Amino acid sequence: MNDVNKRNISVIGLGYVGLPVAVAFGEISNIIGFDINEKRISDLKDGVDKTGEVSSAELSASNIIFTSDLNELSNADFHIVAVPTPIDNDKKPDLIPLLSASKTVGQVLKKGDIVVYESTVYPGATEDECAAVLEVESGLISGKDFFLGYSPERINPGDKKHTFKTIKKVVSAQDENTLQIVADVYSSVVDAGVYKAASIKVAEAAKVIENTQRDLNIALMNELAVLFRHMDIDTHDVLEAAATKWNFLPFEPGLVGGHCIGVDPYYLTYKSTLLGYKPQVILSGRKINDSMGKYIAESLIDNLKKGSKKIDEVVITILGITFKENVPDIRNTKVIDIICELSNFPVTIQVYDPCADSMDVRDEYKLKLVEFNDLEKADAVILAVPHKEFLEKGWKLISELLHVNEGIVYDIKSILDRSIIPENINLFRL
Ligand SMILES: NC(=O)c1ccc[n+]([C@@H]2O[C@H](COP(=O)([O-])OP(=O)(O)OC[C@H]3O[C@@H](n4cnc5c(N)ncnc54)[C@H](O)[C@@H]3O)[C@@H](O)[C@H]2O)c1
Repeated sequence: MNDVNKRNISVIGLGYVGLPVAVAFGEISNIIGFDINEKRISDLKDGVDKTGEVSSAELSASNIIFTSDLNELSNADFHIVAVPTPIDNDKKPDLIPLLSASKTVGQVLKKGDIVVYESTVYPGATEDECAAVLEVESGLISGKDFFLGYSPERINPGDKKHTFKTIKKVVSAQDENTLQIVADVYSSVVDAGVYKAASIKVAEAAKVIENTQRDLNIALMNELAVLFRHMDIDTHDVLEAAATKWNFLPFEPGLVGGHCIGVDPYYLTYKSTLLGYKPQVILSGRKINDSMGKYIAESLIDNLKKGSKKIDEVVITILGITFKENVPDIRNTKVIDIICELSNFPVTIQVYDPCADSMDVRDEYKLKLVEFNDLEKADAVILAVPHKEFLEKGWKLISELLHVNEGIVYDIKSILDRSIIPENINLFRL
C-alpha cells in the first residue's frame, strides 16, 4: 500500500467536478486547488461555492490552498485535472481547456510526478493529446519521467445521494505501479471503492459510453413520444404498462441538455469518424434529442393557433431555464431551443427560474429572466424544468400563472398529477 499522505495533491479546475474532488482530499490532507478563474478562487476563499455543490462549512473544514498562481502548483506531485471538455459549434471536441491545463501542469512537472485526468474525453486523448503537451512543456518523457492516470468522474450535480464518495471510481494508469498509486490515492477518499480498468483507453471509453447509452435510451423515448402523439396515446401510460415487465428499462422522454449526456457522445463519434467509421445509431439518437426543443415549441404553437386568441396576443410562461432540476447550471440548456423556436412567432415569452443566476442567463443567452411577482398572466405555461419549488406548489402554481384557470400546459417531464388537473386546462406531456 502506498502512503497516500506522502503524495501532495493538486486539483486543476474547481468547477462542478473539481471542487467536490478537492474538498474530499482536503478533508484528509493539505492540498492545492488551482483555477484560472480568479473570481472563482476569491469566492472559494470567501467560503462561497456558486455551483451549490459544496457548503461553506465543508469548504472551511477542508485544507485547500485556493490559488491561480502557477508557482503554488509546483509543490504538488499528484495532479488531478478536472477542466471542461465542451464541443464547438460544429459539435466537435473542443480540447482547448484540457490542453491549456496540460500546459499549466507541464510547466511545473517534476520527475516522478503523476497526472490524472478526470475530464471526459474520447479514447486516446490522455495518452496522445495531453501527454504530448506535458512532454513539450516539461521536457520530460511520459511513462519514464512522469506518469499518466485517468479516472473518469461520475458526479451528478444536485444529487446528494450519488456523490464523489459514494460512487465507485474507475481508475486507470499507463503502468501497474502508477495504477496502484492512483488506486490507493482515490481509495483513501472514495468510500465506494475503486475499479481498476484494463487501460487508460478503456477507462476513457467506459465513461463516454455510460453517457452515450443514456443519451440513446432517452432518444428512443423521445422518438416514441413523437410517434405516440400521432396515435393519440400518452407516452407515460405506455411506459408504465411496459415497465411491468421485469427487463423493461425505465427511461423517460425529455430535453437532453447540459455538458455531459448531450456532449460526450460527440467525443466518441468524432474519434470514430476520424478512424474511418461513422457511427449511425449514436448520431441518429443525438439528432432526435437535439430536435426536441423545436418539436415542443412547434407543437405548442399549433395548439395555440387552435384557440380563440390571435397569436400576437399570446403570453407564454416558461418555468425553468437550467439544463436540469435543482442546479444553477445553464450550460447547453435545451430550454433555449424552445425559446428560440417560439421567438419566430409574435408571442410574448417570459421565463422564470428560481435556481438560475439571472446575470449568467443574461450573459450567456442575452435573455432577461422575469421575477416571479412580475409574471403576467399567461395563455400557456411550459413546465420545462421540474425544480423542487415547482413540484411542491404543483397545480396551484400553474393555475396562479394562467388566466383564470384557463390555458395550455406543457408538462415536459410529466410531473403534474393528472388526476387533479384543474378544469379548463389543456394538458400536454411528452
Ligand atoms: N458537471 C458534471 O455533471 C460532470 C459529471 C461528470 C464528468 N464531468 C466532466 O468533468 C469535466 C469538468 O466539468 P465541470 O462540470 O466540473 O466543468 P466546470 O465548467 O464546472 O468547471 C471547470 C473549471 O475549470 C476551470 N478551468 C477551465 N480551464 C482551466 C485551465 N486551463 N486551468 C485551470 N482551470 C481551468 C474553470 O474556470 C472552471 O472553474 C468535464 O470534462 C465534464 O465533462 C462533468
